[in-house]
Amino acid sequence: MQGAPTLAAAPTGPLDEGPHGEGPLDEGPRSAPLDPCRGRPQLARWLRRLSRVFDLDAVRREVPDTAAVAHYYAVNEGSYRRYHSAEGAVHMALNPGGRFDAAGFAGQLLRLEAHWARQPEGPPADVLELAFGQGYNLGYLLPRHEGTRFQGIDLTPAHVALARERLARWTTGASPRLALTQGDFHHLPQGGASIDAVFCIESFCHAMDLPHAMREVARVLRPGGRFTLYDGYLPRSPHGPQGLGADEALAVELVAKGMAIDRLQTMAEMRSAAAAAGLVLQGMVVLDREVMPSLVRLERLTGAFTRWPWFARRALARRPAARSRNVLAGCLMATAVSLGLISYRELVFRKPVP
Ligand SMILES: C[S@@+](CC[C@H](N)C(=O)[O-])C[C@H]1O[C@@H](n2cnc3c(N)ncnc32)[C@H](O)[C@@H]1O
Repeated sequence: MQGAPTLAAAPTGPLDEGPHGEGPLDEGPRSAPLDPCRGRPQLARWLRRLSRVFDLDAVRREVPDTAAVAHYYAVNEGSYRRYHSAEGAVHMALNPGGRFDAAGFAGQLLRLEAHWARQPEGPPADVLELAFGQGYNLGYLLPRHEGTRFQGIDLTPAHVALARERLARWTTGASPRLALTQGDFHHLPQGGASIDAVFCIESFCHAMDLPHAMREVARVLRPGGRFTLYDGYLPRSPHGPQGLGADEALAVELVAKGMAIDRLQTMAEMRSAAAAAGLVLQGMVVLDREVMPSLVRLERLTGAFTRWPWFARRALARRPAARSRNVLAGCLMATAVSLGLISYRELVFRKPVP
């Protein structure tokens, strides 16, 4: 692949960090932006290529609503399984060794389990996954935690049906410890203070009303309960004094729109929405290095597609727009992360005990 980004080691760059609220912040090793002299021409090259295939202005004008998000996942369900993860993971693998390995799709879950094992109050009795997708995460966790009840909610009917079927197969029939609901995480059916641990992998970015979604999580958590997220965030606001350059802002916007996300969340927004909901940021770990092999793999898959723009345009015209758009994200994510424009992080929020 031409110009596949690699990560430099030293932490640099004006990142929006620092504790907000009480509790020690677990700042893991931070991947640094690439040498900007190499990364920027590469970004410009990708944007030029993509502009020959897509009407980028039209893509930028789109504002995905909830129906568009469900449509995006419904039409891409098969492609995710064919090209991304046959096991049904709809998230990036964590591969600290620098090479893609599908075993890394369980990386976020291993981290989650390590957190649960460290909890003084013991493993959680009730766990809720927001946006369980095709059921990979619950299928992994359910048989490994026999004393825990799991619940999940997801918006896309096609995903809910697939997850129900897969989980029934993996767990040899319906499990009394599992309840899956089709619905929107802005309106959780769970009662107040009924859940010990809520987690969400690469899906809270779809929140149309972040403060409201965060308040829902805070409502269902028991005091002392935790909300763990894995996702790509903007460490810096695209606007403001340390704002992004025009190409950088365009890349970040196209990554979002390519995956039916209106715009990526900034770290500052996450912090303030959580604080307003009464949640305390307890830990933050940067996992850019770990997701890079997945991003480079996606860049290879989608980049080949754009090499011959005329053929690409013809091929894409035959697909629903929502199936072609994620080529934008696939081509740009590795460069955006290696330049430090987007950062993949684990965030852990805690509901304080009164
Ligand atoms: C990138 S996939 C991730 C799926 C899963 N978390 C995983 O790790 O494999 C995003 C998922 O978020 C779901 N989703 C998006 N917006 C949602 C909402 N408001 N409420 C519930 N689920 C939502 C989609 O249906 C999709 O299944």
